[in-house]
Amino acid sequence: MSLARNTASRKRSARPSARGSLKPLIVALVVAAAALSLAACGRDEADLSNGKARFVEKCGSCHVLGRAGTAGPTGPDLDAAFRSALADGMDRETVEGVVHKQILNPRKNSVMPAELVSGDDARDVAAYVGFAAARSGEDEGALAAAGLSEATTGEQIFTAGGCAGCHALAKANATGNIGPSLDDLAAAAGDGGSPEDFVIESVLDPDAEVAEGFQPGVMPSYEGRLNEEQLQALAEYLLDGG
Ligand code: HEC
Ligand code: HEC
Repeated sequence: MSLARNTASRKRSARPSARGSLKPLIVALVVAAAALSLAACGRDEADLSNGKARFVEKCGSCHVLGRAGTAGPTGPDLDAAFRSALADGMDRETVEGVVHKQILNPRKNSVMPAELVSGDDARDVAAYVGFAAARSGEDEGALAAAGLSEATTGEQIFTAGGCAGCHALAKANATGNIGPSLDDLAAAAGDGGSPEDFVIESVLDPDAEVAEGFQPGVMPSYEGRLNEEQLQALAEYLLDGG
């Protein structure tokens, strides 16, 4: 413990011009994090897929984390928050410990509620954020499907599907501009068929009808990635005015 404290404070004093306002907070959490990662020794491996799914469900509405496809605007961007610390040599296990600590004990009066996830779920979420923060590329294999396959509400599916990166949608605070805004889909659907069918077709076969002023071949198909119930929930969410 005292070794970790010394290292942390030495690091801080060696860099009086720490960049980024989040850094002091991270440094302060490292000491406690070291204790948690010790406590984690000897337990089973963390389940990253569960961690990702729980992150999307419980944390994504407030935090950006690129690999999880989340874009919540309330809390710090977790890629940005850990990028410079990682570049300066903080290892991913330490990031995991910082996240675990933050989940169990957010600072007093934080808008972030304590223990949104607990026990193994908290450990798994911390492990996933430790793995994913500021990591380029995309998740692969089972992990690629984790967030999306367990998303049930329209909002979670919109988040986990990475729709916000390309589309604006006011109620999700999404501002993507690669595709058309989804704020008035009932109008975009036109008179041809039901608006639900239009939305579901757009998601399964994006190029069947290409929105005016946009390019085909940009939006990925979600065929095989979303089941019937998820498509229905997504369509209802997108078409529900508010
Ligand atoms: C209601 C919004 C909200 C939710 C939900 C939320 N957070 Fe936060 N989070 C914040 C805010 C705001 C902060 C800024 C620091 C503070 O207030 O404690 C924060 C800070 C953090 C930090 C510290 C970042 C840094 O720069 O040191 C981590 C890590 C974090 N949150 C992870 C999570 C995880 C993991 C979850 C899900 C279990 C989660 N948050 C859920 C709002 C939220
Ligand atoms: C990589 C960017 C990208 C992603 C990710 C993406 N889209 Fe799209 N989307 C587009 C583009 C570009 C168009 C316009 C061209 C077309 O119609 O195929 C479009 C068109 C649409 C349309 C038709 C809108 C209209 O006005 O005609 C809907 C609905 C839609 N997307 C919903 C979604 C949903 C829901 C998701 C997430 C599950 C999603 N998109 C993910 C780029 C994207």
